[in-house]
Amino acid sequence: MCGIIGYIGDKKASEVILEGIKALEYRGYDSVGIAVIGEDGKIIIKKDRGMLDEVSKKVDFLEMDGTLGIGHTRWATHGPPSFENAHPHTDCEGKVVLVHNGVIENYLELREELMAKGHKFSSETDSEIVAHFIEEYRKNSENFEAFRKAINRLKGSYAIVCIIEGEKKLFLARRNSPLIVGFGKGEMFCASDFTPMLKYTKKFVPMDEEEIAVVEKDGARFFNLRGNERKKKTIEIKWSAEEAERGGYPHYMAKEIEEQKYSIKESFMVDVRKAGELVKKYEKIDVIAAGTSHHAGLMLKYLFQKELKKKVDVVIASEYRYVALPDKETLVIAISQSGETADTLQAIKFAKKHGAKILAITNVVGSSITRIADETLYMNAGPEIGVAATKTFTSQLAVVYKLAFPERDFSYVADDVAGLIEKIREKAEEISRKLKFAKSVFFIGRGICMPIAYEGALKFKEISYIHGEAYAGGELKHGPLSLIEKGVPVIALVQKDETYEKMIGSIKEVKARGAYVVAITDSEEIGNIVDDAIVVECKEKLLYPFYFIIPLQLIAYYTSVERGINPDKPRNLAKSVTVE
Ligand code: M6R
Repeated sequence: MCGIIGYIGDKKASEVILEGIKALEYRGYDSVGIAVIGEDGKIIIKKDRGMLDEVSKKVDFLEMDGTLGIGHTRWATHGPPSFENAHPHTDCEGKVVLVHNGVIENYLELREELMAKGHKFSSETDSEIVAHFIEEYRKNSENFEAFRKAINRLKGSYAIVCIIEGEKKLFLARRNSPLIVGFGKGEMFCASDFTPMLKYTKKFVPMDEEEIAVVEKDGARFFNLRGNERKKKTIEIKWSAEEAERGGYPHYMAKEIEEQKYSIKESFMVDVRKAGELVKKYEKIDVIAAGTSHHAGLMLKYLFQKELKKKVDVVIASEYRYVALPDKETLVIAISQSGETADTLQAIKFAKKHGAKILAITNVVGSSITRIADETLYMNAGPEIGVAATKTFTSQLAVVYKLAFPERDFSYVADDVAGLIEKIREKAEEISRKLKFAKSVFFIGRGICMPIAYEGALKFKEISYIHGEAYAGGELKHGPLSLIEKGVPVIALVQKDETYEKMIGSIKEVKARGAYVVAITDSEEIGNIVDDAIVVECKEKLLYPFYFIIPLQLIAYYTSVERGINPDKPRNLAKSVTVE
C-alpha cells in the first residue's frame, strides 16, 4: 500500500506535493518520488529509496519548477524497495508518468504482451505496465482514450494518478484503492486520503469504484470505465488541517492517546437509531474486522451476548470467506477504522454476494467500506495518523457500547480518561523502562477485559518489536506456563468482578515461577501480590475496557520510545492495509 498525491494550480507543485507526501507517509515509507511538468511541457522526475527525510537529504525535490505534478510514498508489494522500483514510473519515452497504489493482479501477463511489442521496463513493479499500456494506446488514440483503454486492461486494485507530456491535466483512476479529489479555488488536488488536502480545501469527491477522472485547474470530470460521464456531488469534511497535524507532540501516537478525552465523547454522540433497528431485526450477526478493529469486534460480542443475550460470531476478516456461512438472514457488522482494509472489504463483498445485510463502523467519510455497506456508522474520532490505533479503538468501543445500550449516557468516561492519563503516565513510563529489555511479554485477562488483553499485546508488539502475547488467565496451564521463568514479564488485567478470584489464581501461578507481574487493576489490594500495579478507578463495571486500555497504550508507547523506535511508523506496517 502506498500514498499518492497530485496537484494542479498556480502554486509550486513540488512544494505542495512534498508536504502532502509527509502527511501520507503513514501509508508506506520505503521510497518516495515526485514528477512535475516543467514550463517547457517536459516531465521531470526525482525519486529514491528511503523515507522522505532521508531521500530529501540526497534529492532536491524543490529544484523542480512547475505547477502540475504527482507524488508517491511507497510500501513495497512487487519488487523490493529500490531506486528503480520507486514511483513515479514512466513509459519507454518518459512522456507518460504515473503513480499507483494497489496491486495489478494480471501484470505478468500484461507485461509479456507489452514486451512482445518491444516495450522496455525499468522496474520490477506491476505499476509500470500501466504507463506502457497508455503509451501503446496513444499510438492510435488521444490521451484520455488511451488512459481509459489502458485502465480497462487492469485486474486487481488501483488508485492511479497520471500526467502526460504536453497536457495540463491529471488523469485519475480508481478501483479498490482509495482516491479522493479535492476542489480548491483555481487549483485542484487528489490524494489517497483527505489529510494532505485539508490545508487547502474542505470540499472533496471521493472517487467511486471503477471510475476515471480528468482533473484540470478549475475542476474535474468523472467517467465510468466505458467513458460515460457521471455527475458527482462534493462532500464537506470538517476536520481542520491542525487536527491532522502533530500539534507539538513528539509523536502522533502521543497526541492521539490524549485526544481520547474528546474523541470518546464524540463517538458516544453518534446516532445509532437506524443501525439499532437493523440489529433488532437480525438473529444472526457476524462481525468482520482485522487487528485492533477485531478486538473492538470481540467487545461487541461480549456486550451483545452477555448483556443483550444476542448471539454473535466474530471472524478475522481474512478468514471470513473460508469459514463463514453468510445468508440473507445474516447481519454483518464490519468494523474498520480506515474503511479501506482489503481483507475486510473482500469479506463483506463475499457476505453481500450471499445476501447478508452490511452495517459498517468506520472513521473515514466516503471510504470504500461505506460504498459497499447498506448502513454506516461513523465513529467521528477525527484523523488518526499513528499506525498504532489508539483513539479509533476507544471510539469503536464507544460506538459499539452505544449500539448495545442506546439509552445510556456513558460520555463521562471521556473526562475520566483525561484524568487517568495524567495520573498514571509516570508509572507507565517507569514500567516501560523495566520492560524494554524483555524478550517476550505475556498479557493475561478474563471476561470483559479479555479483548483488552489482546489489544494490549498487539499494541505492545507492533511498536516495541518485543514479542507480546495475550492469553485468557485460565489458558496458562494449558501451555504458555512452560514459558514462564524468572523475570518474564506478565501484565495481568484484574478487574473486581466475577473473574477476580480466578485472576488472582493466575497471578499466583506465574509468580510462583518467578514472573515479573504488573497488574492493571481497580483493586488496591493487588499491590501486595504483584511487582508493579497501575490502579484505575472505574465507576461502572461495564466500562472496564475504557479504563484498562489506557495504561496498556501508554506502556506500549513508552516502551517503543525507550527503545528508540518511532511508534508512529513501525517497520513493515502501514496505517491502512489495502492489499490482501
Ligand atoms: O483500518 P482498519 O481498522 O480496518 O485496520 C485494521 C488493522 O490493520 C489495524 O487495526 C491494525 O491492526 C493497527 N495497526 C493496530 O494498531
